[in-house]
Amino acid sequence: MNESVLSQLTAAFQKKFSDSGKPRYFRAPGRVNLIGGHTDYNDGFVLPVAIDREMLLAVSPRDDKKVKAYSCNFTDTRSFSLDKIEFNEEVMWINYLQGVAKYLQKAGFLLGGLDIALLGRVPLGAGLSSSAALEVAVASAFREVFQLELSDEKLAAIARQAENDFVGVNCGIMDQFISVLGRKNRALFLDCRTQEYELIPIKNSGYKIVVANTNVEHHLADSAYNKRQQECQQGVEILNNLFEKQISTLRDVNCDEFAAVKDKMPEVVRRRCQHVIYENQRVKDCRQALLDDDLEQAGKLISLSHKSLSNLYQVSCHELDLIVNIALEIDGVLGARMTGAGFGGSTVNLVKDQAIAEFKTIVTNKYQDKTGIEPDIYICEVVDGCGEISLN
Ligand code: GLA
Repeated sequence: MNESVLSQLTAAFQKKFSDSGKPRYFRAPGRVNLIGGHTDYNDGFVLPVAIDREMLLAVSPRDDKKVKAYSCNFTDTRSFSLDKIEFNEEVMWINYLQGVAKYLQKAGFLLGGLDIALLGRVPLGAGLSSSAALEVAVASAFREVFQLELSDEKLAAIARQAENDFVGVNCGIMDQFISVLGRKNRALFLDCRTQEYELIPIKNSGYKIVVANTNVEHHLADSAYNKRQQECQQGVEILNNLFEKQISTLRDVNCDEFAAVKDKMPEVVRRRCQHVIYENQRVKDCRQALLDDDLEQAGKLISLSHKSLSNLYQVSCHELDLIVNIALEIDGVLGARMTGAGFGGSTVNLVKDQAIAEFKTIVTNKYQDKTGIEPDIYICEVVDGCGEISLN
């Protein structure tokens, strides 16, 4: 853990909460999904990793039922009572804390008040799940401080519920799940239906996971995200009429079955379904490629995923396509694709160690030349899911 970041957080905590006790520290990581775009809410498969861009909290219990929080990023202090949680229309960030507290209590957990200083190191709007990191960090602080008997899976589910039902974003389970259950140097192969998962070693084969942030935030993302969910639902209804067997989500159809009936579907819905159904297969193939340490194959699948998200699912944008194409021209880039909801945000790239320096220069220069925007490049470490930071 970076000492100077913790000192900054400690200084902020002591300044804002001078009467409070010595804080405990918690962290929860952002994530990048190697493959499995828009499959989680279709009960499919995903393969994310937790990355060393994290949400950090300094926390101390209060003797009343208030949560008082200071955000170092927004230099803003807000508070709420655990007995009266209401959506804040003006200030968004506090709603993530409120949502988590609300659904923990609704699940029957007894909470006390907290003083919290927050320092977010997951870039906002970059498609790296800063909101899941915040929800999970807060839930994990409540769990440890008040010794809640809350499993990791349940913690992730409550964090997601806060996002779905309180913040109002209809996301799947992937982001919260990986922020809790991710492990150092492992990718997490998750079956979003059963929530069974497998940790896949990221072998040290001379490559890195590199994120390129387009620094484009497309506000279209929320409405398009909901629209895609509806289109997938329509697909399920149509497929149900085409098959004898019961289909409750796109997960229930495999590539061969789909190929046999796809021409009977309306064009747009057909494209959406085709992406999801083939993407599920690619995630399974990519899992195998990683197990075999076949990075060339994993990279190919990742790049195919981007094409499909761009052409069939249509959730990419000019800047994402551009930065993927620039990356793929570089020798030593094994694969590249958009990650997260789309319409902006980041791409994930598998890059050979010897190509990292070139990747940084070429992607930055060419992307900036063509768009006038400076991208950010993060060479990621794969880290553990949420937890308490021990200071000794
Ligand atoms: C967002 C959502 C996730 C997932 C991705 C697309 O990040 O929060 O649940 O649906 O988009 O794969």
